[in-house]
Amino acid sequence: MAQSAQVSLEELVARHTPGTSLEQPFYTDPAIFERELDTIVRSQWLFVEHVSSLPGKGDYVLYDIAGESIIVVRGRDGEIRAFFNVCRHRGSRICLAPRGNVRTLTCPYHAWVFDLEGKLIHAARMADDFDPGDWPLHACRVRIWEGMIFINLADADDEIADFDQIEAAFERYAKSYRLADTKIIHQATYPTDANWKLAVENFRECYHCAPAHPEYTMVNAYVNDGEREPEKRAALVSDWVEEWEAKGVAARDLRQWGDVMDLAQPYGVFRQPIREGSWTLSQDGQPVAPLMGDLKDWDKGETLLIVGPLFYIYLANDHAALFRFTPVTEKHSEVVVTWLVRADAREGRDYDTDKVIWMWDVTTIEDTKIINDNQLGVNSRRYTPGRYSEREYGTRSFIAWYIARMGGKTVIPTRPNVGP
Ligand code: FES
Ligand SMILES: [Fe+2]
Repeated sequence: MAQSAQVSLEELVARHTPGTSLEQPFYTDPAIFERELDTIVRSQWLFVEHVSSLPGKGDYVLYDIAGESIIVVRGRDGEIRAFFNVCRHRGSRICLAPRGNVRTLTCPYHAWVFDLEGKLIHAARMADDFDPGDWPLHACRVRIWEGMIFINLADADDEIADFDQIEAAFERYAKSYRLADTKIIHQATYPTDANWKLAVENFRECYHCAPAHPEYTMVNAYVNDGEREPEKRAALVSDWVEEWEAKGVAARDLRQWGDVMDLAQPYGVFRQPIREGSWTLSQDGQPVAPLMGDLKDWDKGETLLIVGPLFYIYLANDHAALFRFTPVTEKHSEVVVTWLVRADAREGRDYDTDKVIWMWDVTTIEDTKIINDNQLGVNSRRYTPGRYSEREYGTRSFIAWYIARMGGKTVIPTRPNVGP
């Protein structure tokens, strides 16, 4: 803590050495955490939930992030809307339970009643000159892409990330998986006692996979083969890319992280074959659910779609895993993983939930432990920033982007076209 008291954020940003982890205050200082919420989190499109968890009129879910509580609710007209969970009377929270079904949004304090479109429809004993039409709930921007609900907390005149660009770039990769026509088979929360950047830094590299993730390493050939026989692995991947691109399947990476360093919300897509003889990301490599969406064939590959630093979609041919990272405090984060299979698949007949979730569940439990231990070490007076290895290029580019954003600069790529 001593470090943060003496040095300004501007100075910390200016003296950051590219290619190293951050100085201690970035991981421990509540004032820097607050600045990050303003500079980074409030301009991002933030994933909340999959639409299938709000099937009925009046179904709602809350998402608490960046000091706000947002109500995402399906209206009487079937539309999904988002509102700040702040009563227009004297500001009380309106919805208290994290999810539920409501006919109206009724404040528990003095019982002002808002409809599901946010309109104030009842306020008792107000003066004659009071017009309820002047007091709707504050709407929050909401966007639904392939069944995934995103919100954006930015004010009207704030910079806002361009989701159209992301959507256009992802279409080729995601469309045939028809993520809107899926259902949630499992959702797990992994509370993490660490700064959100330590969680993201960990997620963006696989330098730690061999030592920390025996299961993930067994499933994903690239972890060891990429290390032991990089040329052989590169040739195998490029043959696979050629084969599937020729069949009209998007198999080539969208290596745009370097190109989008100046954006409020960077994005990218990475594809690769899983392992010879493996059909999906399962313990024995065998399929664990029916083919997703309109897929005609098993390309036996995996896809990572990156939507800014806080949301990642991992696709296998037969299931998807959605990773939502939420900064909670400077030393606490929350990771929520949601598993999807096609909507018409039936448990027991078409899939077994335990088999679908196995790899990412065991891997995320392991990640939580290593991230927590990372924070404990970073808290030490002896911690100083360390150098990233060549295999931590994704982490390095995330930190370069972070420093650029926090410094108000536009572009500082450490190297163009870097992977996950
Ligand atoms: S604060 Fe909501 S009704 Fe008074
Ligand atoms: Fe990991």
